[in-house]
Amino acid sequence: MTSIYWEMNKHKNSRVFYQSMVNKEEMDKSLSFHKSVPGYTPSPLSSLNSLANYLNIQGILVKDESFRFNLNSFKALGSSYAAAILLARECRDELKSFEVLKEKVKLLPLHTFATATDGNHGKGLAWASKIFGQKSVVYMPVGSSDSRLNAIRELGAEAYITEYNYDDTVRLVSDLSRKYGWTLVQDTAWENYTEIPTLIMQGYLTILAEIKEQLKEFQNKGITHVILQGGVGSFAGAIAGGLQCFAGTSLKTIVVEPTKADCLYQSACSKDGLIRNASGDLSTMMAGLSCGEPNPVSWDILKDVVDCFVSCPDEVTARGMRVLGNPLGKDTRIISGESGAVPLGLLFELCTNNDLLQLKNSLELDSSSSVLVINTEGNTDPVNYRKVCWNGIYPNI
Ligand SMILES: Cc1ncc(COP(=O)(O)O)c(C=O)c1O
Repeated sequence: MTSIYWEMNKHKNSRVFYQSMVNKEEMDKSLSFHKSVPGYTPSPLSSLNSLANYLNIQGILVKDESFRFNLNSFKALGSSYAAAILLARECRDELKSFEVLKEKVKLLPLHTFATATDGNHGKGLAWASKIFGQKSVVYMPVGSSDSRLNAIRELGAEAYITEYNYDDTVRLVSDLSRKYGWTLVQDTAWENYTEIPTLIMQGYLTILAEIKEQLKEFQNKGITHVILQGGVGSFAGAIAGGLQCFAGTSLKTIVVEPTKADCLYQSACSKDGLIRNASGDLSTMMAGLSCGEPNPVSWDILKDVVDCFVSCPDEVTARGMRVLGNPLGKDTRIISGESGAVPLGLLFELCTNNDLLQLKNSLELDSSSSVLVINTEGNTDPVNYRKVCWNGIYPNI
């Protein structure tokens, strides 16, 4: 018996999908800002033809965010965009370009941006603060790795590991920000705190704007399925919502989470479609996905557009990491970390594990399918990456 659980989304209702925050206009605005940031280059989109052949499907496209701004994950897209909009507002100006804003920001008093993070978002915010010449303070949940802490400090942030889990660390930083007058740039929303997380989600739309362009290089390769990893769901909500604008309504969208932090899956299982939190220590090596409380702004999108929510153990992402790092034929080698590889790991299981045949059929995944996955991080924890890929921890489920 497999330890992968799924829920087809009975709350799906794409007709009522609310497009105002993740739409084409926001996609263009985000891309235009990021293009003006020094060091910008689109992250690569690779077609893994040999793997698709092996798995007996039409195509696999992998957008590799490990290359983003040399930061090894996609996260800086959100924090830099949100910080830029906030700073532009302080300058009483529209966001035009990085260079214009940077000059104007020099006239402002020094800002402190604060956040809680499993690693990547904090690193992104530290970098965004640094390029704008501002300060940042970053708090991490108990159990965070020293390598992730040090990566954030190296970008100039004050950074600490707390004794709380992710969601309690968010509450701590929210309190501290109020006390010290820091600007909280958090990648999840709650009551009366929705504007900044929405800007962060809009910043992620740069990924889609690039994919839209890059797809033109792969003639005849439309996407039939997308598999997105979920922590609080901001990333998946932005991408799944944005894809509605250009991928068509027949696209099948799947969201995958770690078993011990499967708050989106649990919300989907609820009869009323309201948010359910995952409790406990949320322990998983998919550190970026170790979140127990969904972003309500994002949940409203996911509930309307996702076809299936999946909850899976760490073995699934371990397989994804090993497969991506050891390609077949002429496929591109992709270094994918714990939170980055789980969609590909799930695709591999769907195509090879007979226990998942019913799910595979429900998703209409077959030899005519072309699947998009996004590698959201590289080896952000290099020690654990080697344990998985060299030592073979978390062997097959
Ligand atoms: C590498 C990586 N992938 C995916 C996610 C999930 O993003 P979200 O929490 O918005 O669902 C995160 C979140 O930190 C992450 O670090």
